[in-house]
Amino acid sequence: MIHRFSIEAFPQSKDTEAALAALTGEREFAKTKMTVHFGGMPRAAKHYVDNPSPQFIIVEENGTSDDIRKGLEALAEVVEPGRKVIVIGTVNDVQAYRQLINQGVSEYLVGPVTTADIAAAISSCVKDAGAGPKGRVISFIGSRGGVGSSTLAVNTGWTLANATQEEVIGIDLDFNFGTMALALNLDPKQAVHEALTDAERIDPVLVERFMTEHGSHFSVLSTTGSLKDTAEPSVEAIERLIDICRTMAQYVIVDLPRHWSVWLSGVLLLSDEIVVTANPDLANLRDAKMLFDWLKGHRGSAVNRLILNKADVAKRNQLSAKDFQDTLGLAPSLTVGFDPTLFAQLANNGQMVGEGAKSHRLNEQLRQLAQQLGGRKGGTVRPSSTPKLLNWLKRPAKTK
Ligand SMILES: Nc1ncnc2c1ncn2[C@@H]1O[C@H](COP(=O)(O)OP(=O)(O)OP(=O)(O)O)[C@@H](O)[C@H]1O
Ligand SMILES: [Mg+2]
Repeated sequence: MIHRFSIEAFPQSKDTEAALAALTGEREFAKTKMTVHFGGMPRAAKHYVDNPSPQFIIVEENGTSDDIRKGLEALAEVVEPGRKVIVIGTVNDVQAYRQLINQGVSEYLVGPVTTADIAAAISSCVKDAGAGPKGRVISFIGSRGGVGSSTLAVNTGWTLANATQEEVIGIDLDFNFGTMALALNLDPKQAVHEALTDAERIDPVLVERFMTEHGSHFSVLSTTGSLKDTAEPSVEAIERLIDICRTMAQYVIVDLPRHWSVWLSGVLLLSDEIVVTANPDLANLRDAKMLFDWLKGHRGSAVNRLILNKADVAKRNQLSAKDFQDTLGLAPSLTVGFDPTLFAQLANNGQMVGEGAKSHRLNEQLRQLAQQLGGRKGGTVRPSSTPKLLNWLKRPAKTK
């Protein structure tokens, strides 16, 4: 499996530093974003005061088990919850090992360590059922056809990848008419539909084969456009594809076609967030109301968002953001004006807003949306409440 997450490592010895530096030479870690800061646990604790924490943190502490415990306490104050921590140390006793695992450390390795030891420890954390990092699935759907849902999905994916420098996978589930690759000026290797013929066959290696990269953090599964594929894929195949993608990236952006089927409602259910794009007219309002009623009825308190697109197209006749808010009980997360010149130009050039119209207001709006969807601006990001000592490190309870 190709790992696409970010790792930051804090070695304390030159040998460990060399073993860590060689990690991205391993096939499985070729796409991993690896940063090494020399200085062990104390350096890590200082580092995360001002920096966001990645999925995996590897820290070396060659002192006593008490030094390790204290170092972890200091880290717990500054690291965001839910991160995986691997500790490398020289204390070689079972009790100390058990204590660290109980405190929530994912793996403890006794030094000296090799690159293969580190690779195996990370892979075992990821394989540990349900314990590997799981990306957020954000699905985009239009309240009606042609409202601009795909345009906003691909631009949001691109913006998330560029703003956070974390891995984003875009999945275009409009199998015949999808435009995700076209919008990015990419030529997909194989249509995503072909990956879905047999749910059992879908694994990270297969998914990787279907993926086309745009820059260093955004990869897409899309189509060149084809009327060949007419069979409806199975719900299991689509859900498995999304599930595998979320182990490979921090964000999975799903572009849904505007139709209604069993598999589509299944994707709406499994998504962490849904973004419904609507245009300001009555038919859009009616269909957005149907969609939001369904979402509220089936997704409990999970987050659903509204984007009002092509606003101001007919100022006097169109419905306002307030009309939508009153009817749906939800304010738009974003209102985008009607700008045919801008969108035609970007489409013709195969560019995203952040590439071809950097100084346009929409670029900043997309960055704000990306942030609301879980992206970060950079700088310190703290958990909303002070974490209880080491609670953030606890392994999630395994579900059967
Ligand atoms: N704010 C906007 N102003 C002007 N044109 C826009 C705007 N947003 C999107 N468009 C254009 O609207 C057209 C439809 O956009 P897009 O394909 O993203 O819509 P969609 O909702 O995904 O449609 P479909 O139902 O086909 O999936 C495209 O030509 C796009 O460039
Ligand atoms: Mg679309």
